[in-house]
Amino acid sequence: MSSLLRIIRFTRSLNPLYLAIVVCSVLTALAGLAVPFIIGRATDVVTSAVNGEMSAGDAVRAVILLALVLLAVELVNTVVSNVGGWFGDVMSNRLRTILSVRYYDKLLHLPQRWFDAELTGTIVARLNRSIAEISMFAKTMSNSFATMLITTVAVLGISAYYYWPLAVLLLIVFPVYVWLTSLTSVKWQKLEGEKNEQVDIASGRFAEVIGQIRVVKSFVRERSELSDFSRRFWSTDATTRAQSTHWHRMDVLRRAALNLVFFGVYAIIFVRTVQGAFTLGEMVLLIQLMSMARQPVQSMSWVVDSSQRAIAGSKDYFRVMETPIDERTAAMLAARVGVRDTAGADARSGAADGDEPGTRTGGLTTLSEHPDEAALHPVAGAPVVAFRHVDFAYEGDADVLHDIDFAVARGEKVALVGESGGGKSTIVNLLLGLYEPREGAVEVVGHDSADLPLDVLRSRIGVVFQDASLFSGTIAENIAYGRPGAGEEEIEAAARRANADTFIRRFPAGYEQIIGERGLKLSGGQRQRIAVARAILKDAPLLVLDEATSALDTKAERQVQKGLDELMEGRTSLIIAHRLSTIAAVDRIITLDEGRIDEIGSPAELATTGGIYAQLLALQDSGQTKRLAKYGITG
Ligand SMILES: Nc1ncnc2c1ncn2[C@@H]1O[C@H](COP(=O)(O)OP(=O)(O)OP(=O)(O)O)[C@@H](O)[C@H]1O
Ligand SMILES: [Mg+2]
Repeated sequence: MSSLLRIIRFTRSLNPLYLAIVVCSVLTALAGLAVPFIIGRATDVVTSAVNGEMSAGDAVRAVILLALVLLAVELVNTVVSNVGGWFGDVMSNRLRTILSVRYYDKLLHLPQRWFDAELTGTIVARLNRSIAEISMFAKTMSNSFATMLITTVAVLGISAYYYWPLAVLLLIVFPVYVWLTSLTSVKWQKLEGEKNEQVDIASGRFAEVIGQIRVVKSFVRERSELSDFSRRFWSTDATTRAQSTHWHRMDVLRRAALNLVFFGVYAIIFVRTVQGAFTLGEMVLLIQLMSMARQPVQSMSWVVDSSQRAIAGSKDYFRVMETPIDERTAAMLAARVGVRDTAGADARSGAADGDEPGTRTGGLTTLSEHPDEAALHPVAGAPVVAFRHVDFAYEGDADVLHDIDFAVARGEKVALVGESGGGKSTIVNLLLGLYEPREGAVEVVGHDSADLPLDVLRSRIGVVFQDASLFSGTIAENIAYGRPGAGEEEIEAAARRANADTFIRRFPAGYEQIIGERGLKLSGGQRQRIAVARAILKDAPLLVLDEATSALDTKAERQVQKGLDELMEGRTSLIIAHRLSTIAAVDRIITLDEGRIDEIGSPAELATTGGIYAQLLALQDSGQTKRLAKYGITG
């Protein structure tokens, strides 16, 4: 229950709507309650006419008048309940919107580690379910709960007025019914949780499989993927049967209790009328009131049931909402004065929260106006990037990096070379602040990067990731991802430098070409060049290339390299490449061996030490020689 109250507190902006709904419900309930009185009165008039106590003409006039009043009351009921319904629809949709936007906001600020441990599809399935259940509950409740409550109270009062034992009987029914229902709910919820877990796992896999359908097809795993999915979903069948058996068994119990009580109620009404304690009209009134009381009692099981679901949903919701964001993200948000407030203010003003993500989440203040801009004033003489005795583990204490210690001076080009899995990309991840070192520190322009606001830090780094990681949408949108306001010319210039302009123009829609999910419609090399163009356009002072040109052929790579060389001119760069030709022109090479620095030196120096770089050179040369030999060329 407390989690439902939390939802209400969480969505304070909806208070006026909640109020409007309550007002409509009260009016609807009052109009509904008037009906039995009118019909009871009409019954009495008819009885008097039949008994000859009233003239037929008077009686007809009276009943027609009563029928007209009935019409008016019912029309009011019809209109007001629909107005209330409208408020209910708007409220539940806003509730869903607010909850979804906040959830997304939260997710976007969770640490990388959190995502490492979760499947996308599972996150999405959980979000959809919990929010849908909360807003469904809010909607149905708002359209019936207040009315039900008022009706119940009124019926109790009225029946107590006519004959108190009736009220006592009704009073017993409610707690017994609610008690039996909540008994049912505990087990029901547990089983529901088991079902949800299976469905969430299946949904997670589902999203993964659809996202990588090519792999599934090529390894002909459709059947086994499907059977796994089907097994999980079918496992909910047995659970559902157990769940439903339990529910219906308990329903028989509580409805039987209800039937028993109403037996008593009706028996009392009939007997007392025969004894002359009630007029016929009063009997009709009471019978109608009782059937009005019956409905809330029965809906009570639904209310308890769906409120339990909504409670479970809101717990799931708040579990994610309460996941701590890392300190640096928190610092970044705190520094972004206004962003959170604006979102809150919008929610308060009742505007659909998050209808313009560009202005609010995008309120991620542009960097030039960042309050902490000063934090990045370089410390005189400090290297642009420095790793100070960094140890790092993704999980537990299984260190992936050991005592990494190096510095990159302003304008210097440094290459990281080492075996696959040696920790090169991990160094990039640490530099970007996606993870924190376990020991030691990463410094940027002389500041411990742990003290820098993350957005300031990241705005300074243009990175081409090992997997090109594009988004669905157009080529132009992708290139401009790091600089949303960039003009057409800037986008094209960046593409030209990345040697992408030519192939882009070959598409029928050119820069407006839609490239599919994660850029699926592009070749690997095309994707890489878009990613390079994206980093070029960002124009950050520190450039990080993680295998940025690995998917290109030698010719295309040369061309991209030319663009990159120009870009790297006077810019600090960290380059990871397997192809040695790519790094021949760097100032220094750092070789990594199983997460440890092996050597640091210029390409010329390292060529002669017999270390990793020299070995790679030798391997490449021998390959070259063999190939040349094959064509009858030697030397
Ligand atoms: N998110 C992660 N969670 C746990 N372990 C990880 C994660 N990412 C990488 N690793 C592990 O860290 C080690 C270093 O990985 P990293 O990606 O840094 O290697 P790399 O040098 O970039 O290799 P490659 O040349 O193949 O790209 C690997 O053993 C890998 O299994
Ligand atoms: Mg890597």
